[in-house]
Amino acid sequence: MLADVQHVVGYGPYVNRVPQREGLTRHASGNTVEVDRARLALDLALAGERVAVVSGGDAGIFGMAAAVFEAAEDEAYAGVPIRVVPGMSAVQVVAARAGAPIGGDFAVMSLSDRLKPWSLVEQRLRAVAEADLVLAIYNPASRSRTTQVADAQALLLQHRSPDTVVVIGRDVGRAEESLTVTTLADLDASSIDMKCLLIIGASGTRVTGAGQVWTPRFAERSRAGS
Ligand SMILES: C[S@@+](CC[C@H](N)C(=O)[O-])C[C@H]1O[C@@H](n2cnc3c(N)ncnc32)[C@H](O)[C@@H]1O
Repeated sequence: MLADVQHVVGYGPYVNRVPQREGLTRHASGNTVEVDRARLALDLALAGERVAVVSGGDAGIFGMAAAVFEAAEDEAYAGVPIRVVPGMSAVQVVAARAGAPIGGDFAVMSLSDRLKPWSLVEQRLRAVAEADLVLAIYNPASRSRTTQVADAQALLLQHRSPDTVVVIGRDVGRAEESLTVTTLADLDASSIDMKCLLIIGASGTRVTGAGQVWTPRFAERSRAGS
């Protein structure tokens, strides 16, 4: 797809990963202007240019795909075709590194309250905890958001065992990659930053003797039989 476009639009670090070549213009922008950059891409496409909007991982998961559809609600862009190309999301890579923690039912949440109120995050965390789903947490912290992981941990502990398995994948697939397996009680919130993805296990999630984490696909049957 990238070989076929004249423009690449996205957050600076992602755009910079696309090799420069003749005939390609790279449009790098800041982290918090998703809809503005989507409009730029749509304006270019409206003018007849071939444009790719890039995200890290999968563009449809906490990425630019939804921002492009949001900007495209403007009637001016009614004639611009949008195609979403799937990618490998952080939850899949962290899960594969750890074993098979999302082998059963699981939920995915962003802990960021930049685009939604924290009360809604809490409500959803509570619902997921009560439903005994494995939970993958994106955007757990940032330089300006430093309290959410500890708050989420305290809330989850109201509904989940302190022994609940937790996987922390940091910078997976990159040079500084690390993977930590701990428990909900022992999770050190101060060690979590924006490069981390957390997987909070369900009650059936377990750790093998070799330290790999997995969740039975049939948790109820497995628990009943254990
Ligand atoms: C704005 S979201 C982008 C998600 C991306 N679209 C995806 O599908 O992976 C950014 C968050 O994704 C997670 N993430 C992205 N890359 C990661 C990596 N290499 N290792 C661990 N987590 C990662 C972190 O939780 C980070 O705060």
